[in-house]
Amino acid sequence: VIIRHQNGSYPVSFVRWSELDELLPDNYVVLTDAEVAALWKLPGKRPVVTIPAGEASKDGATFLQCHSDLAKLGLRRQGGIIAIGGGVVGDLGGFVAATYQRGVGFIQIPTTLLAMVDSSVGGKVAIDLPEGKNLVGAFYPPQAVYVALETLASLSEREYRSGLAEALKYGFIGDPDLLDILKKGHLTESTVARCIAEKQRVVEADEFETLGVRATLNYGHTVGHALEQLTGYADLKHGEAISIGMVVEAELGEFLAVTEPGTADVVREILSEAGLPVDHPLLKSADELIEVMRRDKKGRGTELAFSFLLRIGECKLFNKVDHSRVREFLIGR
Ligand SMILES: NC(=O)c1ccc[n+]([C@@H]2O[C@H](COP(=O)([O-])OP(=O)(O)OC[C@H]3O[C@@H](n4cnc5c(N)ncnc54)[C@H](O)[C@@H]3O)[C@@H](O)[C@H]2O)c1
Ligand SMILES: [Zn+2]
Repeated sequence: VIIRHQNGSYPVSFVRWSELDELLPDNYVVLTDAEVAALWKLPGKRPVVTIPAGEASKDGATFLQCHSDLAKLGLRRQGGIIAIGGGVVGDLGGFVAATYQRGVGFIQIPTTLLAMVDSSVGGKVAIDLPEGKNLVGAFYPPQAVYVALETLASLSEREYRSGLAEALKYGFIGDPDLLDILKKGHLTESTVARCIAEKQRVVEADEFETLGVRATLNYGHTVGHALEQLTGYADLKHGEAISIGMVVEAELGEFLAVTEPGTADVVREILSEAGLPVDHPLLKSADELIEVMRRDKKGRGTELAFSFLLRIGECKLFNKVDHSRVREFLIGR
């Protein structure tokens, strides 16, 4: 797959882990997290910067520490960063690559299902602030993405399912046949490629998220992000939060008569069959939830924004949803 963007294009290729050493440039530094470094023998003799595993590393302190480490290693502008890991390493590594000496090379090697089907493609890189996730970042497409599916073997069941939620999302928003394929279980190269193709279709149509098309990737995320924030990113994985979000937003879409009746039942059944959560006690706290959802980046002014399914396979951004109707829905739920 070749992904096109404003300043060029980059390939997403399926490779074997053992091939990486040969494929990667010698003058690049590897950035990874401690868990991945412990599980996988990193390719070649390149210098390695290792960060602690987990979302907490996507912060300003780690960001600056990476810059210092690269400077100490003497990384030059002709060099670059090879981010090997999940979305945390990819997002942080990409933003470091975008800013170190005003920009160096950047290659992504996603090792979680979520990173393979979602975060490694599309060029968004970012770190978090205490005030919110991904508040500091850039569009900085990689030069190449290498997917070694073998790495999924060491992923925990829970992380795997969390990534599956994003894969199923592509089915719901644009590729219904993918739902049947994913329901059959076993994830193959062609299934992962199909998810990436769906992400490609959307990001190429609206690279900088100005047309409302890219926002459809945010189906389930207005509610999902609010749940993550209200639970302090502690008890829910991202994919679990958006699984709940996809169900609730389908219900809300039906309530507002924009989503075809019966859609939410289909979404709920597919996600719970996949072992993902479809409800949460915090959904009862309507006011708290609405307060947080108002800060969603898709929003305009004080109204709420949701990417609603019109039906299974079609999604559209609605960025002026009346919060009193959302409150009515949540209270009656
Ligand atoms: N840039 C984008 O477009 C985009 C899209 C979606 C999500 N994201 C970001 O991605 C992040 C979430 O990514 P994630 O779910 O990959 O989280 P993650 O990077 O924290 O990885 C999850 C856990 O799995 C471990 N891990 C990674 N690869 C492994 C492997 N092969 N075997 C065993 N363990 C492994 C990691 O060490 C970590 O503990 C969030 O910060 C989110 O904001 C970005
Ligand atoms: Zn997501």
